[in-house]
Order: sequence, then structure tokens, then C-alpha cells
Amino acid sequence: MVLKITKCEKSRINDVDFNNLSFGKEISDHVFIAEFDGNSWINERIQPYTPLQLNISLSALHYGQSIFEGLKAFRDINNQIQIFRPIDNFKRMNLSAKRMCMQEIPEELFFKGLNHLCNIDKNWISNKQGNSFYLRPLLFATDESLGVHASKKYIFAIFGCAVGAYYSKSLKIKVETNFTRACIGGTGEAKTAGNYAASLLAAKIASEQGFDQILWTDSIEHKYIEELGSSNIFILSDKNLITPQTSGTVLKGITRDSVIKLAKSMNYNVEERKISIDEIFELSTQQKLTEVFATGTAATIVSIKELNYNGNSIFINQKNDTLSSILKNKLDEIKHSKTADIFGWNYTVKINEPSTSF
Ligand code: COI
Repeated sequence: MVLKITKCEKSRINDVDFNNLSFGKEISDHVFIAEFDGNSWINERIQPYTPLQLNISLSALHYGQSIFEGLKAFRDINNQIQIFRPIDNFKRMNLSAKRMCMQEIPEELFFKGLNHLCNIDKNWISNKQGNSFYLRPLLFATDESLGVHASKKYIFAIFGCAVGAYYSKSLKIKVETNFTRACIGGTGEAKTAGNYAASLLAAKIASEQGFDQILWTDSIEHKYIEELGSSNIFILSDKNLITPQTSGTVLKGITRDSVIKLAKSMNYNVEERKISIDEIFELSTQQKLTEVFATGTAATIVSIKELNYNGNSIFINQKNDTLSSILKNKLDEIKHSKTADIFGWNYTVKINEPSTSF
């Protein structure tokens, strides 16, 4: 399928302060789009980042068939563009599609979109420390009909933005015991828009109470921790690194998986299991709670300084040379090709002429 490329008339890049990037506001000049017409993928194109014309009967707006991914591209020390673990985002996106009864995306289309977008907007990918190019693939239903059914038609798009840190400091967390994010048999493991919509009220209340984020607990007893609003969570006690198992209600984070693999290679004992909030508080009482940290593509790795459970807080010492900072540095070094990519995580973007098919 031939990809049509329409370039923007004037780049917005000169309006961007690469020394002071926020998260998710500095959207680049172009977007990759493909449509599924019920039979095949058509109209593959790169076009300027401008509004799409869509009807308000669009089924994604009514019945929520909408999924997305988040991954990052970096400029490495050789000035090449590396995307971190895109094959894993591709696989997770299709797992989300399957769960939400949506059309799956061909691998070739996913990578064509990533390559072309990073190619045409390569100037948005800076080599400044702490900056990256966040890529947001999304898939949404476009049938125009009010009956509740799985859509036959879809739009797959990828856009990107130049980003800095999602969190700039360690986090103060409220353990959520009223609202529920996910339950067994639900959609918790899928990266679907509705999961985020359902989290907003709890997050708003926590923010009004002075917290940075919420930590979700299981839907039945509100006793076992699951994940944070925007990331996974790890607990370190001595050489034991514990994280909630992903058995249906927790998102299978790619940074989570990278941390598990790196920590194992550093001889940490990694446990993926149920962990109760009582156990964490008990570790703190016994002074055995070494670190708590969050992991995510947007969040990267960020330490947690306070956990508040039903009004009682524990405070976690913020030291230098923590495991989380060591892991973050190791990951950064891999992403920027400063060290050997022993796990084969980096994907080098093919920079080519616009007509090239990838
Ligand atoms: C990501 O980390 O990429 C996410 O999708 C989380 C989102 C809340 C920014």
C-alpha cells in the first residue's frame, strides 16, 4: 500500500522551548493515519497535525472502543533515533484490541507508522538529557450507528510529542480504598480509554487532598495493592524487589518488565505476587522498607516518598544511590546506546527518503 505524504506548510518547532518541555503539550508537526474500512487497511498517510472531520455518531464516542499505547524515541550518542521496545507495545496494543473486540493492527503498519513519523518529524527528537519523543499510537471505532455492537471500521493513528519529565519530584501517594479501577474479568489489563476515564474522579479527590497520585487496591477487599494512576509500583525490602502480579487487573507495563529483567541481572530477588498494604506498613514499622518507586513509559522511574492509607502515612527515606536511580540510569544508558543493549530492546529508526516503504 502506497503511503501518501502531505507535509505541513510551516513547522511549529520554533515555538518549542526544548530546555523547558512539559509532558504532552508540544505535539509535533505530523500524524500517521490509516483507516480500516471493514475489509482492509486503506488511506495510509502522513498528514499535518490538524483536526480530523468526524461525525458525532462515531461509535468510539458512545461505546468506548478506543485503545492506545505510549512509547518513546530517543536520539542516541551516535545521533541515531532509537525507539524503546516498540515490538512490546505493538503486541500489547493487539491484546488490548482483542479484549475490546476491535480490529487488530498488522505489525508492518505499526512499524511503518513509527518509522515515517519519526522520519518526517526527526527534528523534534532532541538529544538533550531528560528529553524524548513520546509516541502515542491509538485505535478507535468509526462505525456510525447507534446499535451496541463491535465496530467494523476503525482509524489507527500515531502522533508524537517532544516531552520532558512526567514527574519532576518524588511522589506523595494516596492508597485508594473507595473507588475501583479494575476487577477480575474486567478490562484492567487493556490500555483502553475508559480505564483512564474511570480513574479521574478518584485522582481529582486525591489531588484536592494534596496527593500526587493514587495507588489502586483490589476491588474486593481493597487490601492488596495493584498499580498507580499512571504507572506500576515496586517495593524494595533489602534485596527483595516486590511488585503486584499482573493477573488481569494490572497493566503489563513495559518499563515494569524492563525493571524486573534488569534487577534480576543485578541479583535482586524479584517477586511478582500479591502484596497487601498491611505488609508494606509492617515493613515500614520494622524499618525494612528500603524503597518504593513507580515505573511507566511516561513516568520512567520515580521514587515515592509517602504512602497514605486511610489517613495514616508512612514516609520512605529519600537517599542517594537508590536502586530506582541506578535502574533509571541503566535504562537511560541503554536507550541512548551508551552501554550494550544486551536485552535487544532498542529499535533503530530507518531514516530514509519519504517515498521509501519500511
Ligand atoms: C504511559 O506511561 O505511556 C501512559 O500511557 C500513561 C499515561 C497516564 C501517560
